[in-house]
Amino acid sequence: MISEAATLTAEQFADFSTLITTRLGIKMPESKRVLLQSRLHRRVRELGLATVDEYHRLFFSDTEMQAEELEHLLNLATTNKTDFFREPVHFDLLVDDVLPAWRKHPPTPVFRVWCAGCSSGEEAYTLAMTLLEQRARQPFEFSLLATDVCTRVLGIARQATYSTEQAAPIPAPLKSKYLLRSRDPKHPQVRIAPEVRACVQFGQLNFLDADFGLREMFDAIFFRNVMIYFDRPTQHAVVGRMCRNLRVGGALFIAHAETLQGLPLPLRMVAPAMYRREPGAPPS
Ligand SMILES: C[S@@+](CC[C@H](N)C(=O)[O-])C[C@H]1O[C@@H](n2cnc3c(N)ncnc32)[C@H](O)[C@@H]1O
Repeated sequence: MISEAATLTAEQFADFSTLITTRLGIKMPESKRVLLQSRLHRRVRELGLATVDEYHRLFFSDTEMQAEELEHLLNLATTNKTDFFREPVHFDLLVDDVLPAWRKHPPTPVFRVWCAGCSSGEEAYTLAMTLLEQRARQPFEFSLLATDVCTRVLGIARQATYSTEQAAPIPAPLKSKYLLRSRDPKHPQVRIAPEVRACVQFGQLNFLDADFGLREMFDAIFFRNVMIYFDRPTQHAVVGRMCRNLRVGGALFIAHAETLQGLPLPLRMVAPAMYRREPGAPPS
């Protein structure tokens, strides 16, 4: 049972939710109140405060506290669920369709992939292992950028240490090749091997920024299970901006639960949850 000390009133929730939606684009309907309340409660305890009420009061009255605390608040507003080899058909499409097309007429010497909204790194390391396997068969150069707004999950991604349960979806041959096992039987963990870690460059990026600050054009973008948290106009604006960094002919992967149908974007659906960039200007 949640004590009164932990209760977030409707007005307090509205203050936090407005800020979160403005900064991150994440929808915060009233149904998220209990979730936010329990996450805030944990933060209140970490700070040694007595109540969420006190946290709310300090946050909105003390500008110094807000400046220091904003990153924590935004971190706890994000949902970071992810897995290795999640929705695996997309990794097959990358290998069987996108990469062979690039190899035929490489527009640049490096095959560039962006894992956009990478959470704790599982998707980015899945891409790295997949591309390393292809490179072993037929050499080519690739680069992998992985970004997220949440600094907490980026820390986990860079650390690259996972439980054996988290690593379970990785196929056995890749496990023996690309994972290091802890020697402590009480803490059966794995760490991604240096060869794989070295393939991925992690960075912080907020999709709501008007300019992503990325100079490179990508041959494939994985943007899966992120825009489901945004409203339609935000989805349109973010994917439109993303198109500016997607080479014409390059592929955009979204999650199977998401759709871009009805949005005027220079993208053509070529397989479930896979789009190809068409010529034409993205919305500005
Ligand atoms: C559910 S995870 C998806 C992880 C991975 N792409 C997958 O499909 O397994 C969604 C991620 O989007 C990130 N995210 C949410 N809003 C964002 C924003 N405005 N800018 C950048 N990343 C954001 C969250 O921090 C979270 O890690």
